[in-house]
Amino acid sequence: MDKPKEVTIQTYKGWEEFYNIEKSDKLDFFIRNGRMIDVLFSQQFDRAFLDNMCLLATQIRRMALTKMGAQKLSSLLAHKRAMLYFVQPSTRTFISFLNACHILGMKISEIRGTTTSSEVKGESQEDTIRTFASYVDLIIIRHPEEGFAEKTSWILNQNELAVAVINGGSGPDQHPTQALLDIYTLERSFRNIGGLDGKKIAMVGDLGRGRTVRSLSYLMRNYKDIKLYFVSPEIFQMRDDIKSFLKKHKIEFHETDDFASVIPEVDAIYMTRIQKEYSEAPAEESDIYPDFHFTKEHLSVIQSHCIIMHPLPRRYEIEVEVDKDPRAVYWKQERNGMWMRAALISYIFGVDDKISAEFR
Ligand code: CP
Repeated sequence: MDKPKEVTIQTYKGWEEFYNIEKSDKLDFFIRNGRMIDVLFSQQFDRAFLDNMCLLATQIRRMALTKMGAQKLSSLLAHKRAMLYFVQPSTRTFISFLNACHILGMKISEIRGTTTSSEVKGESQEDTIRTFASYVDLIIIRHPEEGFAEKTSWILNQNELAVAVINGGSGPDQHPTQALLDIYTLERSFRNIGGLDGKKIAMVGDLGRGRTVRSLSYLMRNYKDIKLYFVSPEIFQMRDDIKSFLKKHKIEFHETDDFASVIPEVDAIYMTRIQKEYSEAPAEESDIYPDFHFTKEHLSVIQSHCIIMHPLPRRYEIEVEVDKDPRAVYWKQERNGMWMRAALISYIFGVDDKISAEFR
């Protein structure tokens, strides 16, 4: 995406100190009236919240099947407005958030690049998001910079602006709503075999720069007896911060570059793309690592209940012929994103009880 010609740098006293506080020590900052209002990183979610979001997503999915149900849903937040500020490319996160807002009746504004906002005139990022807060109730952000969504939340809170903020992907750091929809996909897929507890999950590919696998790994502390297999070439190994987190929470994990040996062992295989966009020398970096691709031959080796996931977009990691197998759930997974994001937004604005009441 094009960069603005000039950038105004503003210094916010106190931000750096706040950002450096351990995530688990600042969860209360994002809660108002007992409800999580800003959703910025996976460490904010506990098991009760995750279970509630999965139930709510299913309830919204079921309500949306009928005209009457869809009309009820679309009346819930008809008085609210959302801003989608996506200054890093996105297809499904953008479209699924847009449709999640539509399901709930919200009005939408969008900016999809800094070349179409006053940032091209040099307006700072911080003044830009401060401006959105003058018009909307919710800002959803996809941004290349680690921590920018959190900074937005912090700035709006300094100014006592009651605007909710959701992180729709922050550079190579986190993608918490992807982690929510991944949990929903795992729980739904395993609903007849005891859910996610006790399962073995392989995460494959660019684990060092893949924000989806990072956010999903944090959530594993909420489930019992999970075993993770981090499968990657050496240069794309999972970063130390995640490994320290897993050790601290006594979550078993194994690192390997031997994909073939892991494939028959696990209950879920989470494939990821090589994230070349974060390379300092993209032209020199390969994005084809055939030893880490899932092929149609692998379908006869995986367990009968094993699911194949991918946050998408894919490149060569999964052969197209795999798509036909019922265990390939990545297209369902992206659709789950819409239901889960609708569930999250309904929770943030406190209309989740009205949805659940339809099922009592
Ligand atoms: N999974 C995901 O974040 O996809 P997009 O980049 O297309 O939004």
